[in-house]
Amino acid sequence: MNPTVHLLCLAGSLRRESWNRRLLQAAAGAAPAGVRATVYDALAAVPLFDEDLEQADPAGPAGVRALRQAIAAADGLVIATPEYNHALPGVLKNALDWISREGPEGEVLAGKPVAVLGASGGPWGTRLAQASLRQVLHACGALVMPSPALYVAHAAQRFDARGGLADAATRTALAAFMDAAAAWTARLAARPAAAPDEPAALQQA
Ligand code: FNR
Repeated sequence: MNPTVHLLCLAGSLRRESWNRRLLQAAAGAAPAGVRATVYDALAAVPLFDEDLEQADPAGPAGVRALRQAIAAADGLVIATPEYNHALPGVLKNALDWISREGPEGEVLAGKPVAVLGASGGPWGTRLAQASLRQVLHACGALVMPSPALYVAHAAQRFDARGGLADAATRTALAAFMDAAAAWTARLAARPAAAPDEPAALQQA
């Protein structure tokens, strides 16, 4: 595998003890050889989206610029989403709305390989949140890894008191997930660029 593959890991939660951030910390540790995985920890600096702010400075506020630059610099993204009311949380949707817009680095989500996972305390492990996140990422032109999915249910039982991922089956699944995310990213990074006149849609309603 290309030794320069860099995966940026983004948790859709600001909570200090977030299961999803802990999951990504474990994921970063489980990344295969030749892959650098780093957890983004400045999502709280992204303000609520406001087109007036965007018009005042097309590069966006500092927290948006930092996130956009980090994504532009990464070969691929790994996003761990909580589930709020059967969908992705507003804090994550807000960040994606900001960076879906063109900045100095271009449209950083368009063509970006992305792998999606998530953890919740309940029995369904963010299935509906991941489905809604996939929908948003598709709209942004991201290349979302089709499989494997990883739904971490009953999260409180899977982490130890210090926040480490203690559950052996989840650790095994997470390592397989990171192998797949790295392979998905490396494969897409090696693809030829799309033709410039490739249509975004074949039919418009
Ligand atoms: C939740 N939670 C939740 N869980 C779930 O499995 N399905 C759901 O629809 C919801 N809805 C929901 C709404 C709101 C407003 C909150 C605050 C919470 C529980 C949620 O999964 C839990 O708080 C997780 O711990 C959040 O993820 P982090 O912050 O631990 O990463």
